[in-house]
Amino acid sequence: MLIPVIAMWIIVFAVIIGLGRMVAGRSLRRLEMLIDQVRPLCQHPDAQPEAFAALIMAEKEHQLLKGSYHEDLIRRSDAAYSALQIAAKAAGAAVLDGESSHAEKKTFSPGLEGVVAFETAIGQVFGEEGKLIYRGFDACDLAVKESIESVWLLLRDGKPPDRATLRSFREQVEKAGALSRDEIKIVKQLRGGQPLSAVRTAISAVANKRGYKPWLNRDFTEIDSEIMALTAIVPSVVEIIHTGKAPIKKPGNTGYAERYLWGVLGCKPTALHTSAIETYMILTMDHGSNASTFSGRVTVSTGADAGAALTAAIATLSGPLHGGAPGPVLDMLEAIGSKECAEPWVKEQLDNGRKLMGFGHRVYRTEDPRARTLRNVAEKLDSPRTELARTVELTILAALEERQKAKAARLGTGVRTLRVNVEFWTAVVLDQVGIPRNLFSSTFCASRMIGWGEQIREQIRNNKLYRPLSRYIEPAKFLP
Ligand SMILES: CC(C)(COP(=O)(O)OP(=O)(O)OC[C@H]1O[C@@H](n2cnc3c(N)ncnc32)[C@H](O)[C@@H]1OP(=O)(O)O)[C@@H](O)C(=O)NCCC(=O)NCCS
Repeated sequence: MLIPVIAMWIIVFAVIIGLGRMVAGRSLRRLEMLIDQVRPLCQHPDAQPEAFAALIMAEKEHQLLKGSYHEDLIRRSDAAYSALQIAAKAAGAAVLDGESSHAEKKTFSPGLEGVVAFETAIGQVFGEEGKLIYRGFDACDLAVKESIESVWLLLRDGKPPDRATLRSFREQVEKAGALSRDEIKIVKQLRGGQPLSAVRTAISAVANKRGYKPWLNRDFTEIDSEIMALTAIVPSVVEIIHTGKAPIKKPGNTGYAERYLWGVLGCKPTALHTSAIETYMILTMDHGSNASTFSGRVTVSTGADAGAALTAAIATLSGPLHGGAPGPVLDMLEAIGSKECAEPWVKEQLDNGRKLMGFGHRVYRTEDPRARTLRNVAEKLDSPRTELARTVELTILAALEERQKAKAARLGTGVRTLRVNVEFWTAVVLDQVGIPRNLFSSTFCASRMIGWGEQIREQIRNNKLYRPLSRYIEPAKFLP
């Protein structure tokens, strides 16, 4: 009799404690969100000292309460919230009620961090869980089971294609991927600089040559086929830029991925290599509201033509902060050279405050799921570089963890997890299948074109011109 009663009380207490923690967590998150809103306001030249004082107090309370469970957590967190809200309002800095349209009073978020700029049904990155979803499906599952064309149709139509649709779409893409003689001539002239810059200019030039017009007040099916055509030509464009010759015939090719690799290698790739590049391309087709996708959406939101929007997206992708790490990852593996050298090399880099390419991520707080999938691909390709890469990965993870733990202990903060990202294993896979280092970013472009295309179609279907506000910084006043 006594045992069930005790068990019941234990359950009751556990439920009460669980609920308490949930409410406390919510209270703390509310405070955290307010701190994030008020912090940029306090950087404004007109921000008043009360707002600063309240912000510092709120940040301290937040640090103290985070990660621990004080009895009075909810009370203290709510008190800090109210004090911060009152001070920010009194200082004239916060318009948390969002009533004013005056830019001076709006929250400024550098780099639009934390700002929701658009809604999309195409995909989502779940940074905490380490998941990438396309239209409700796990992108990593799709990458190992499906073809590019099948995932392309999934992104486009929101549902997996049936066999007949897939077959006819494959044919359409292959047909649309051919360039005219004049277009081939134009693309050949673009060789010489960075391959990705040539690809960007080629897309723009072909769109112009074909007379693609702004989409506003035009039939959607026309725009749709223009977007598809500009994506379909990328394998041919990259081949011409790489070889300087007209694209070779690729009889019996299996689709977009094989045509791309065939064009770069100059011969039919093995089935294993085609499957590796196809997996890579599916994994990198779309990735939420990254800079290039946003750029493409902004451009097309003005009513601009498909060529303009895709050119803008490629231009944005070219920056080294956006997907330019695989080349340097390969440099790193070459500099390390052998397994025995990994530890001292990594230590030296970190001692000198250098960042290690292919590690860390702005959104993922756990292993980048794309990196995991590509590691499996690299293992199947099986070469001495894969073995070295695995040792280097483990060495770097251990070194980063040790340093982040030491830093957290020193500052009394939580440990920032730094894991491997997609770029590390991308470098290994692209190198294994024979893609030269200078074509890594063009290969990324070949897959992301599909995602950009779907994102700009979505933007067109539900368009709102992007027009954020800016905050004017007055010139310094000069004393007479
Ligand atoms: C991807 C990246 C830009 C994310 O940046 P972020 O979320 O803004 O993180 P931060 O750059 O603020 O890094 C936070 C801390 O971790 C450290 N850190 C992050 N990535 C690191 C890396 N790859 N190597 C060593 N230290 C790293 C930073 O030095 C910083 O430490 P500090 O607070 O002592 O200065 C960053 O991790 C990076 O530069 N990685 C290397 C480049 C790369 O692989 N890019 C491809 C991304 S898909």
